Amino acid sequence: MNPRKTALVTGASRGIGRAIAQRLAEEFFVVGTATTDTGAATISDALGENGTGIAMRIDDQASVDSAYERMADRFDMPSVVVNNAGITRDNLLLRMKAEEWLSVVDTNLNGLYRIVKPALRSMIKSRWGRLVNVSSVVAQMGNPGQSNYVASKAGIEGFTRALAQEVASRNITVNAIAPGFIETDMTAELSAAQVEQMLARIPLNRMGTPSEVAHAVAFLVSEQASYITGVTLSVNGGLHMS
Ligand SMILES: NC(=O)c1ccc[n+]([C@@H]2O[C@H](COP(=O)([O-])OP(=O)(O)OC[C@H]3O[C@@H](n4cnc5c(N)ncnc54)[C@H](OP(=O)(O)O)[C@@H]3O)[C@@H](O)[C@H]2O)c1
Repeated sequence: MNPRKTALVTGASRGIGRAIAQRLAEEFFVVGTATTDTGAATISDALGENGTGIAMRIDDQASVDSAYERMADRFDMPSVVVNNAGITRDNLLLRMKAEEWLSVVDTNLNGLYRIVKPALRSMIKSRWGRLVNVSSVVAQMGNPGQSNYVASKAGIEGFTRALAQEVASRNITVNAIAPGFIETDMTAELSAAQVEQMLARIPLNRMGTPSEVAHAVAFLVSEQASYITGVTLSVNGGLHMS
C-alpha cells in the first residue's frame, strides 16, 4: 500500500479533472478515472508513481462497483473524492429529447450517489475524509438551453449541503466548486460569437484555466480547510457574485 492518502478524481482524462489529478498528485496517491482503457492508460502515464488511471463509467452501477473492487484490491480506499466527471446535452426544453434529459441527470447527479456512498463508508471508519463536488456557475445563474445540466448541478449543490451536515461529526467535509467559463473540450464546442458574448460578462475579462480550478480543489481537500464544509466555492472570474 502507498504511504500517501488516496484521492479519487473522476473524469481525470481531460480538462478540469486532469488538472485536478495533477495538482493533487503533489500530495496524494491519485486514482483518476476515464471512460475507456486508453484514457486510463494516459492518466497512468501522466501521473507516474503518484497515481494511476482506471476505466469507469459513473452512469453505470456495475462499472462503478467493479472499479471500487479493483481499487480496494490494489490501493487504499479513497479518503479524498473529487466528483468532477460531467456531461452536457444542450437543448431548449421544448426540443429536449428524454434521452438528453436522462443522460445528463443520470451522469451528473445519480453518478454522485454511485461514487460517494461506497467511499463514505471507509471515510467514516477512518474518521477523516474530504469530498469535493464539481458544480457550475450556471447552477445559480441558470442558462437557457441547459435546463437538464442546470438541474443536475443545482442538485449537486443541495446534495453537498445535506451530506455535509450528515457526516460533519465524523470529521468529513463536503464542499462544492462552481467553475465559471473554463478552457476545456466542453467550452471548445461554443461558437466564437458565444465566447465573445460570455467574455463581455466576465469582470476579469478572460476564460479561466483548469489549473485555476485545480488549486481551489487542492485548498478544499487540505488540512488548512478543515473548518470549511457545506460551501460552494466560485471560481468564475466574477461572472456571478453571490
Ligand atoms: N469547462 C467549463 O467551462 C466548466 C464550467 C463549469 C463546470 N464544469 C464542470 O467541470 C467538470 C469537468 O468539465 P470539463 O470541461 O473538464 O469536461 P470535459 O473536458 O468534457 O471532460 C469530461 C470528463 O468526464 C469524463 N466523463 C464523461 N462522461 C463520463 C461518464 N459517463 N462516466 C465517467 N466519466 C465520464 C470524461 O472521460 P473521457 O475522456 O473518457 O470521455 C472526461 O474525463 C464537469 O462536471 C463540468 O460540468 C466545466
